[in-house]
Amino acid sequence: MNKNQKIALLTKKHVAQTYGRYPIALVKGKGTRVWDKDNKQYLDFVSGLAVANLGHCHPAVVSAIKKQADKLLHISNLYHIEPQSQLAEQLTSLCFADKFFFCNSGTEAIESAIKLARRFSFDQGHPERTEIITMQNSFHGRTMGALSATAQKKIHTGFQPLLPGFKYVPFNNIQAVKKAISKKTCAILVEPIQGEGGVNVPDPSYLKELKSLCKNKGILLIFDEVQTGFGRTGSLFAHQLFKTQPDIMTLAKALGGGVAIGALGATNRVMKSFVPGTHAATFGGNPLACAAALASLKVITGKGFLKNTLETGSYFIERLQELAQEHSIIKNIRGKGLILAIELKKPGSEVVLECMENGFLINCIQQNILRFLPPLNITRKDINSLMPVLSKSLSRLSTKKFK
Ligand SMILES: Cc1ncc(COP(=O)(O)O)c(C=O)c1O
Repeated sequence: MNKNQKIALLTKKHVAQTYGRYPIALVKGKGTRVWDKDNKQYLDFVSGLAVANLGHCHPAVVSAIKKQADKLLHISNLYHIEPQSQLAEQLTSLCFADKFFFCNSGTEAIESAIKLARRFSFDQGHPERTEIITMQNSFHGRTMGALSATAQKKIHTGFQPLLPGFKYVPFNNIQAVKKAISKKTCAILVEPIQGEGGVNVPDPSYLKELKSLCKNKGILLIFDEVQTGFGRTGSLFAHQLFKTQPDIMTLAKALGGGVAIGALGATNRVMKSFVPGTHAATFGGNPLACAAALASLKVITGKGFLKNTLETGSYFIERLQELAQEHSIIKNIRGKGLILAIELKKPGSEVVLECMENGFLINCIQQNILRFLPPLNITRKDINSLMPVLSKSLSRLSTKKFK
């Protein structure tokens, strides 16, 4: 038994089997590379699911964590927390939001957004406005509120009754939203680009139209930027790419440069509804996570970083399009910046395994969509090295028969 297998055995015996895990244990990371317990190296096109946007163990983040760890790890939100205030100041200077609430994950940020939208409507004298419109194929998390907001059957199965107050409509269909709005609607919740649902990019006008609809009806627009935030699309936030500002935005994943942290940003008008006693999180905005986030943000917003992400993303998509010319099994290539996908005509899980055997980590979603979420500082050389492996694997897959 090798060292990976030993860890796999421990996981199988003692860890809840909520994930279908690959047979390797990753124990070390540096930049775009990770190593398993048997010291095999992989080039990472997953980034811990859009978390390691700076690559693994970025020296600026590691150093900030070490420094903060020497000073203070945790203190309650009963007191002012210096790195939290600084992080909020930084974030507000970079987007529409005037204030931030901090939590620990994406799903928690979504719960916060649901609560804020309802409480805001209540405070506006509209206690009847409790419904939120969300999109089919969305993904917002696994807690009861977030999974009720998520319009995917497989996420709901066995967990009914869902939280009431969500109406689902097709993504990228403004007419469907118009039809769904009622006197009970308090908000529309949407990912600017759907991540888990298949890397679905909307028409350029879609978010703008949602915004004007919300404005006309006096309801709130919430963008879930948990996956698209922090440079993933080549803009710091995806809504900036679409030139549309929401009233509320949820963040997590890459915010902490690898450390767990989530956040909710909103305008002053809306955030006024969170007053003492309405919402809280013990670990939310703790000094360690905020110090890591501050360091990470400094790198992402540094000179040329996002421009480079955009250029690398364009290069990557060109290479994928070349692949599509050679392989008729490819149905579609899509994405923005470095959230990219190949939609296949057949299930893609074997491609993931073959890439892994050859030292590349990629991801498959919705059974037939290969998703690429590399660190944003990945090089063209790294991208080039993946192509022959992908090509070979797609050739093999195209000859395979599925029932
Ligand atoms: C768009 C989006 N929202 C929310 C979440 C939930 O985040 P977390 O897993 O940190 O709870 C995810 C996770 O993949 C996501 O992609």
